[in-house]
Amino acid sequence: MGYSEVYQSWQNDPEGYWMQLAEAIDWDQKPSRALFETGEHLYEWFSDGRLNGCWNAVDRHVAAGRGDQVAIIHDSPITGTQSRITYAELQTRVARLAGALRARGVEKGDRVIIYMPMVPEALEAMLACARLGAVHSVVFGGFAAHELAVRIDDAKPRAILAASCGIEPGRIVAYKPLVDGAIEQAAHKPEFTVFLQRDQAPCELEDGYDLDWHAFQEGAEPADCVPVEGNHPAYILYTSGTTGAPKGVVRPTAGHLVALHWSMKNIYNVDPGEVFWAASDVGWVVGHSYICYAPLVHGNTTIVFEGKPVGTPDAGTFWRVIAEHDVKSFFTAPTAFRAVKREDPKGEFLKKYDLSGLRAIYLAGERADPDTIEWTQNLTGKPVYDHWWQTETGWTIAGNPVGIEPLPVKIGSPTVPMPGYDIHILDEAGREVADGELGAIAIKLPLPPGTLPTLWNAEDRFRKSYLSHFPGYYETGDAGMKDADGYVWIMARTDDVINVAGHRLSTGGMEEVLAGHPDVAECAVIGVADELKGQLPMGFVCLTKGVNRPHDEITAECVKRVRDQIGPVAAFKLCAVVDRLPKTRSGKILRRTMIQIADGAEVKVPATIDDPAIIDEIRESLKELGYPKG
Ligand code: COA
Ligand code: AMP
Repeated sequence: MGYSEVYQSWQNDPEGYWMQLAEAIDWDQKPSRALFETGEHLYEWFSDGRLNGCWNAVDRHVAAGRGDQVAIIHDSPITGTQSRITYAELQTRVARLAGALRARGVEKGDRVIIYMPMVPEALEAMLACARLGAVHSVVFGGFAAHELAVRIDDAKPRAILAASCGIEPGRIVAYKPLVDGAIEQAAHKPEFTVFLQRDQAPCELEDGYDLDWHAFQEGAEPADCVPVEGNHPAYILYTSGTTGAPKGVVRPTAGHLVALHWSMKNIYNVDPGEVFWAASDVGWVVGHSYICYAPLVHGNTTIVFEGKPVGTPDAGTFWRVIAEHDVKSFFTAPTAFRAVKREDPKGEFLKKYDLSGLRAIYLAGERADPDTIEWTQNLTGKPVYDHWWQTETGWTIAGNPVGIEPLPVKIGSPTVPMPGYDIHILDEAGREVADGELGAIAIKLPLPPGTLPTLWNAEDRFRKSYLSHFPGYYETGDAGMKDADGYVWIMARTDDVINVAGHRLSTGGMEEVLAGHPDVAECAVIGVADELKGQLPMGFVCLTKGVNRPHDEITAECVKRVRDQIGPVAAFKLCAVVDRLPKTRSGKILRRTMIQIADGAEVKVPATIDDPAIIDEIRESLKELGYPKG
């Protein structure tokens, strides 16, 4: 069957289609049916089945006689180390960690926060939770204590699993003060913490409350897999929305496993036993799905890479890892290739490595610009496939179904909807627009297995954020179009979410931080185009009447504030003091106009602007920040 037939077969009989795919994973009790409607426009999948995520990712491969296969390769150029863990070893390690957690009272349904760098223990922590039916919530290491505190208060974890440090080029990030700071700020107090001590910067542990990772597990009785219901949350992953309060995306166990298993062959075209590498971080959805769960559930070898595309030690690192471990499919964000291209435009480093085993490169996380795709394709001679998805969906909405049938690549489009996704392009009033016309991208409900059924403890927000604008559809927050061949084109976000080096961030969240500065009366943060990172945040602040301090002092404080409260990952370094912000007569800040000026694009000033003279003032401020570029 080709792509059209597979898509059609899903459309003709979604229930039968998903029930058949569910056969690929192991169940303690098979579900009686696939789709469950739980309320108006609310759906779940495989709810009455019973299974365990860790069993599917680890134990079943051992049971099938594949225990000696390498499950995880840790390749850490930043520490100069490498290690390998087989499926059998992984099973032993995870069962023991799960046993230790259980001995401290962690049970099915309890939440556990994981705040760790790119080490195999991060995956082991996730899998140990899954083994017990505990719900993990991994927090990216680039977030500051305040962001961690917000997540602690929302998820109310019983425990935090952490490492003593992460390592960034040129600096060691001590995690202990961040964890301590977060627990101090949070109203909810976890019962205990466990720290993996790393040689680069061990931390001091407070007796009784902070436990040492190895001592914690010593002598623990290994825990068996606890079967959970198909709709049981496997994890909560917080992602940026319009405000500073992150959204807790809930990932249900069964749908997640079924969809991810399917994706490994049909999208990434790998067979069990082969090496698959997603160069992302466990703190993001790409890390959850494609460093941890999907490759393991499918019986692949996954790579946990602790390094950067450049500087660890050079722009040849990606090629080295691919050649050395015989990676068959490689997945990263376009920004990573932009970084490599900037350092090594002619691909001199590539000449040192044999990439003959690599079949294809996959890009996602942000818009893949045609220059980057073409450069990567020309240099490597490999197909480069863009694919589009979100934290909310957990797997590809639109991609190239290479394992079914490679479709012709149209550079700039992530290709076509995957089975399960019925994509529509709608105008403001919810009417379908014609092919080639821009609109809001919406997906007809129900969303397929693996996608979010709701937000953690926030069903109202879930409805408001995703379901209320276009009744009967899920609103993706992206704008774009479909062409006559059914290809999807993703053009921009329709909300205040920006994408900085493949990291999803909220300008609204940054505005909340700036507004908290005692001298700031009003502010706006916009995302401006950046050659390397895709977008960068830029802040404009108006001062409280009577404040008479040097502007550069205030902007430096604003920059520090965002770094301290959101984290270095926000990459907030551009900030200007302005007298006033451009607004409509009804008081709405004209952010889009400001973005157009900063990007050097055609500026369309709305007729409703309150005072057109402000536009020139904004131009002047932008000039001082070096914008527009070039
Ligand atoms: N822990 C602590 N700090 C972190 C961090 C982590 N896990 N990850 C990033 N940071 C810090 C960086 O050190 C940097 O700090 P600085 O301001 O002191 O320099 C800051 O956050 C911004 O990081 P980033 O935006 O990643 O920029 P960079 O200049 O360090 O690196 C790239 C640029 C393009 C090389 C890098 O962003 C990259 O590898 N991107 C790949 C994207 C990716 O994996 N996306 C995931 C979704 S698929
Ligand atoms: P995240 O939830 O961090 O994965 O970010 C999801 C958002 O990133 C999407 O809603 C898009 O705005 C953007 N995005 C992800 N993949 C792509 C892609 N292939 N093309 C364009 N934008 C993308």
